Amino acid sequence: MRILVTGGAGFIGSHLIDRLMTEGHEVICLDNFFTGHKRNILKWLGNPYFELIRHDITEPIRLEADQVYHLACPASPVHYQYNPVKTIKTNVMGTLNMLGLAKRVKARFLLASTSEVYGDPEVHPQSEEYRGNVNPIGIRSCYDEGKRVAETLAFDYHRQNNVDIRVARIFNTYGPRMLENDGRVVSNLVVQALQGIPLTIYGTGSQTRSFCYVSDLVDGLMRLMNGDYIGPVNLGNPDEYTILELAQTVQAMVNPDAELVYKPLPQDDPQRRKPDITRAKTLLNWSPSVPLRQGLEWTIQDFRDRLEKADTTENSQTTLMSVAQA
Ligand SMILES: NC(=O)c1ccc[n+]([C@@H]2O[C@H](COP(=O)([O-])OP(=O)(O)OC[C@H]3O[C@@H](n4cnc5c(N)ncnc54)[C@H](O)[C@@H]3O)[C@@H](O)[C@H]2O)c1
Repeated sequence: MRILVTGGAGFIGSHLIDRLMTEGHEVICLDNFFTGHKRNILKWLGNPYFELIRHDITEPIRLEADQVYHLACPASPVHYQYNPVKTIKTNVMGTLNMLGLAKRVKARFLLASTSEVYGDPEVHPQSEEYRGNVNPIGIRSCYDEGKRVAETLAFDYHRQNNVDIRVARIFNTYGPRMLENDGRVVSNLVVQALQGIPLTIYGTGSQTRSFCYVSDLVDGLMRLMNGDYIGPVNLGNPDEYTILELAQTVQAMVNPDAELVYKPLPQDDPQRRKPDITRAKTLLNWSPSVPLRQGLEWTIQDFRDRLEKADTTENSQTTLMSVAQA
């Protein structure tokens, strides 16, 4: 099949592309490189079955594909709050453009939505029937409400134009290739521990999250795309940890001497987040299999390699500069 992946140079998108290429598909990766990077898809450049297009999805584009995985959108608060109006445009105009493309070429369309559509949830765990508790005017709204509109658009294109849609609500996902500076809790803690600086905990650390390893998530996305159920379906790991537990695990794995420091909780930060994955289990026969410690080990290794490489480059640049200055 010819498969279009928007946001394919990003964290989840690049892992998805690895799987699709390995399975022998033809892949088109569309990305504007806002948070994505060429190094994530470097190994496929030059492969005749892989195409990379630098494009911003807020502009229309004409392409042929059998399936569209629509992932393009910055996912971490630091990045989606950098230019909130652009985030809304990406979610609304970008999703409109990609749904229009899917309609025109009769491609199946999968939307990467998010657990953020539940906002700061009043029910626990969150099932797909829960309609959410989202602040429409807060600093997270460009993302939360943007994704809610994206879901609405997908379902309206389905009802009105028979577009064959799939909607995944993704919960916190982690793994190799997350950005070091994206402010998400796993990357924050791992990078701080590796750099030997204190590990930051926002609030008391009693707020909970669930963490899904990226290969499990990719597997769920592919099952959803290739099954009959249109969704929405929660994809996430239901094992729940407090942020303090996560910090202590990272501390024990990387640097037992690292200090923990507490900072105020950001606005609208959800207290509890845990997916009810009954639908994914029964309708997609999917459940995550990578335990947190194992996934953390692989993630820590990847960050360690990248930080060492960055150090070496910085050192050689400093040497070059001092040579030039001398
Ligand atoms: N990682 C998670 O925990 C998580 C959780 C819930 C939902 N999601 C969703 O999954 C998708 C992928 O997330 P990720 O973690 O890989 O994030 P990411 O930021 O690593 O990837 C997003 C990609 O989209 C690209 N992009 C952003 N705006 C674009 C635009 N206007 N035009 C073209 N490309 C654009 C970026 O350059 C990047 O490559 C996102 O839609 C996100 O909302 C992720």
